[in-house]
Amino acid sequence: MSTDKAKLIYADQEIELPVYEGTAGDHAIDITSLYSKHGLITYDPSLGNTGICQSSITYIDGDKGVLRYRGVPIEQFDRPHPNFIEVAWMLIFGRLPNKDELELFSRTLTNHELLHEGIRSQFQFLPAKAPPMAILSSMISTMACYYDEFLSPDDEPVFLEGVSRLISKIRTIAAFTYRRAMGLPYIYPDPALPYCSNFLHMMFSLPYKQYEVKPEIAKALNLVLILHADHEQNCSTSAVRVVCSSRANLFASVSAGVNALWGPLHGGANVKVMEMLDAIYRGNRKPQECIEAAKDKTNPFRLFGFGHRVYRNYDPRAKILKKAYERVCQIQKISDPLLDIARELEEAALNDDYFIERKLYPNVDFYSGILLRAIGIPTNMFTVMFAIGRLPGWIAQWKEQHENPTAKIIRPRQLYIGNPETDYVEIADRE
Ligand code: SDX
Repeated sequence: MSTDKAKLIYADQEIELPVYEGTAGDHAIDITSLYSKHGLITYDPSLGNTGICQSSITYIDGDKGVLRYRGVPIEQFDRPHPNFIEVAWMLIFGRLPNKDELELFSRTLTNHELLHEGIRSQFQFLPAKAPPMAILSSMISTMACYYDEFLSPDDEPVFLEGVSRLISKIRTIAAFTYRRAMGLPYIYPDPALPYCSNFLHMMFSLPYKQYEVKPEIAKALNLVLILHADHEQNCSTSAVRVVCSSRANLFASVSAGVNALWGPLHGGANVKVMEMLDAIYRGNRKPQECIEAAKDKTNPFRLFGFGHRVYRNYDPRAKILKKAYERVCQIQKISDPLLDIARELEEAALNDDYFIERKLYPNVDFYSGILLRAIGIPTNMFTVMFAIGRLPGWIAQWKEQHENPTAKIIRPRQLYIGNPETDYVEIADRE
């Protein structure tokens, strides 16, 4: 796929480098031989200008606010009956499943919805109020103790079983985490319920009263998970690829993804958005005060839910989430003051030069939190919900990385700025 060449001129060298063109017209300069042939490296500490792979899974055009899964524009999943499971299968196996494939996948997910009693018993050794993301990453690592050491995508039936275990049990782990923190008895999965409704059942049913899942709520949750399902080489997905590149197993790689997602600049932002909106609502902050604090370089505060490394336009997911939220509010007859505050904050930021100049727009986290809250999910579980949604994307990217015959262990270099060669000093001679 090398189309034309790039020229790098440095010192007495004129270096010609191949340029690749992607199917959407994006271009990449291949520097894979720059160090071996010319002793040079490039410097790009946050990798914002560096491609770590060629991928067919997700395409983003940050300037136009375009997001496509396997070529399908994200807007097309905002349909009367969005189905997270079919999108998960599509991301992992490359196309939408046919009827038989979808039925097999749904059956396999149902077969794997229970936790191994050894894994379930692990909960008792963790603090009930431990951070849900800490529990999630440790439980996923624990799965590697109970299931096939290595899930090879080469053996598709075995891989499908392993993938289904992860996608099905992440719900049960999340629900059990919440129930234990609330001091409530575990509610076991109901094999008669579809994926999202089963999760809501495990979260909110009581031993004597089944939680009634409203269709609009199940639809909204399917949409939330779909919109979080993949996002090319974001921080947590890159963590999954890095761990995969050492040939570590899927559970270890996904656990690394969970830990990377936890950070407030990444998946943890949806919790910070709620804390920000809630602080304004309780009166100890004003919207304009948040705007000013976010612009103040001496203040570490950021306008959470705003800005994005790739989008220099409105995050298309935020638009869909905002509409879904308004639908849920109508169904649930909710008039949430936080929505008014969110709209006020958005309006103020979108008309402020600081945000306009830097092309800072609402991102997926800005509206996901208030929508999850309207569904009834507690704030401290928001990032776990992000992980449940992102899991199929992590698996798809792990599979693509693992199956790439030319992939090597991911091991970046550095620019050394430390001491020149120095001798050891005996302790008696040190100051
Ligand atoms: C997710 O990568 C993905 O795809 C992530 C994600 C996914 O689906 O996986 O989309 C999910 O993580 C969404 C982002 C959630 N995080 C937040 O909402 C946290 C708040 N946003 C930021 O911290 C920030 O915007 C980042 C982390 C998202 C991006 O950080 P960058 O790449 O460092 O931002 P930038 O280089 O584009 O910043 C340009 C300028 C800087 O100011 P100057 O140095 O030019 O003066 O904009 C400023 C930044 O300080 N800036 C902000 C800001 N975001 C950027 N200033 C105030 N508030 C903000 N939110």
